[in-house]
Amino acid sequence: MAIDKKFIDLFVNVTSKAALASYYTVGKKNKIDSDKAATDSMRSELNKIEMNGKIVIGEGELDEAPMLYIGELVGTKKGPDFDIAVDPLEGTNFAANNLPGALSVIAVSEKNKLFNAPETYMDKIAVGKNISSDVIDLDFSTKKNIENLAQFKNKEPNKLTACILERPRHKKIIDELKELKVNLKLINDGDVSGALLVSDDKYGVDIFLGIGGGPEGVLAASALDSFGCKFQGRFLFKNNNDILRAKKMGIEDLNKKYALKEIVSGDSIFCATGITSGDLVKGISLNENNYISETLVTHKASNLKKIIKKENILTP
Ligand code: FBP
Repeated sequence: MAIDKKFIDLFVNVTSKAALASYYTVGKKNKIDSDKAATDSMRSELNKIEMNGKIVIGEGELDEAPMLYIGELVGTKKGPDFDIAVDPLEGTNFAANNLPGALSVIAVSEKNKLFNAPETYMDKIAVGKNISSDVIDLDFSTKKNIENLAQFKNKEPNKLTACILERPRHKKIIDELKELKVNLKLINDGDVSGALLVSDDKYGVDIFLGIGGGPEGVLAASALDSFGCKFQGRFLFKNNNDILRAKKMGIEDLNKKYALKEIVSGDSIFCATGITSGDLVKGISLNENNYISETLVTHKASNLKKIIKKENILTP
């Protein structure tokens, strides 16, 4: 069943308030405070919504996160059942250092329709809408993915742009992309936003790839699904502890490649509000009595994909 449209505004309000709370900590060189401000606000706003919400991706397991932990029930416990993935502050470095791109993010699906991702890395690949599903694949080499995409788009590889986190682990992929003369968009953090840059030609990104957080992969996938984009992800486990947790969450095949539909199915709402201005949305701005927030919102069932600007009264 589709998620009622009335919830769109309620969830935009949740990420807007969390973004404002975190905004006050921007540039204070304190990632923990910035994250806590966003998390506290998000939890308190979620608890006002008439729903039976369950956090499936949150700040961690109960033993390590007192707020918005995996399995926490949120909402008034009256109303529809939702699975909720949250990243109250995506880009803790950005907020701490007053750099562009800090976001407050949430994805909401119908019950049992959002993948419960473990806190581990995920190898990801995403391309925009109208690209055939056989063009890119996590199992193809970087070269094959680029050549297929170039052929499909009827462009030379040097006219393509690839977005990837700048990390030592990506040296081989980045070297291959350079050899193919692909233009690079190297991001320092924030791969929810990075993945979403394939969603619209205006961002000038043809492909997103590389290894980032698994939870961030699921959040991005929910918006990419509404945009009609292609995405695949495969979890990577650093140690035995990660593996045990994944198994506890019901993941049996540790090497499984997940298609978008296996990560999010059914209806979903995605909201990402800017804390500091970035590629997707502007950050919070304040004037005397009001604050303005910008939120990228998608709602699959109503085909909504837009940036909602809100002017809200500042409460003391
Ligand atoms: P935080 O907001 O938790 O700091 O995450 C930022 C981020 O860049 C994510 O967007 C990305 O998925 C992940 O970190 C990458 O992890 P790592 O920094 O270990 O490469």
